[in-house]
Amino acid sequence: MGHHHHHRHGSDDGDSSLAELLDLDGEVLTDYWADALDWVRQAADGGPRQRIVDLGAGTGTGTLRLADRFAEAEVVAVDSSPDMLDRIRAKALAQGLAGRVRTVQADLDQPWPDLGTVDVTWASLSLHHLTGPDRVLRDLHAATRPGGLVAVTEFDGRPRFLTDAVGDGFEERLLGLLHEHDAERLPELGTDWPARLTAAGFTLVDVRPFVIDLAPAPPSTGRYADLWLRRLGERLSDQLTPADAATLAGLLDPDGPSSLLRRDDLHVRGTRTVTLAHRP
Ligand SMILES: C[S@@+](CC[C@H](N)C(=O)[O-])C[C@H]1O[C@@H](n2cnc3c(N)ncnc32)[C@H](O)[C@@H]1O
Repeated sequence: MGHHHHHRHGSDDGDSSLAELLDLDGEVLTDYWADALDWVRQAADGGPRQRIVDLGAGTGTGTLRLADRFAEAEVVAVDSSPDMLDRIRAKALAQGLAGRVRTVQADLDQPWPDLGTVDVTWASLSLHHLTGPDRVLRDLHAATRPGGLVAVTEFDGRPRFLTDAVGDGFEERLLGLLHEHDAERLPELGTDWPARLTAAGFTLVDVRPFVIDLAPAPPSTGRYADLWLRRLGERLSDQLTPADAATLAGLLDPDGPSSLLRRDDLHVRGTRTVTLAHRP
């Protein structure tokens, strides 16, 4: 259980650099997280909200914020990685939320875990990792109480940090390579989630893009960009031109003049789109 031989990157147990990246995402994009979850909380007004599920919860940025917003509810964090779930339990304990936050280790590509009846589900950047998201959405639909909600959030393109002047369009080229790499590794990335939710039996409520455009960038952005480009560089190193490899090495050299950790020209851009649907 919980071993992903087909996942060569990203979701393996004990991937501590992914955990750190997810925590930085919660920090740097804190306003997006607050806005998106406030919106979901409002949409749940008047509906059932006893059990909230964070599907593919990662380090729990969503889980803990959901527990804040849904004051009476039990929040269930589901992930295949025991390490991620350990982190969530530690945070819940530290924030006095351990009594209402439960973790369930489950590989969502395996049969649906018994979570009980679900009222509100939040799935952030997780469904695109699954080989069978349609089956998972049908099972989620069956587990959702009538009147319950599901919110799927995914990025429209990866986050960007650099200006075009850096390495003469370096980031654009790197993201182009990543796009090709993702096409085989994560075939569900960028799929039509509203259509997939509808096909699973949900009724669409709304689709809302949250535009991220942070300049000056928040204080943790340098560390976020550094970790992100480090991970990307590991994946794509054999495809970089010598000039781009040199640009990347400069950005990642903590002592060098162009270090991401010390630049003052970082500009965080991106869009996350939340698809909200309900079970009538
Ligand atoms: C990109 S992270 C997103 C984490 C979190 N939702 C967030 O937005 O910060 C994707 C998460 O999905 C989990 N995941 C990937 N494949 C999974 C699977 N088959 N079953 C359960 N969880 C999975 C990974 O362990 C990881 O924690």
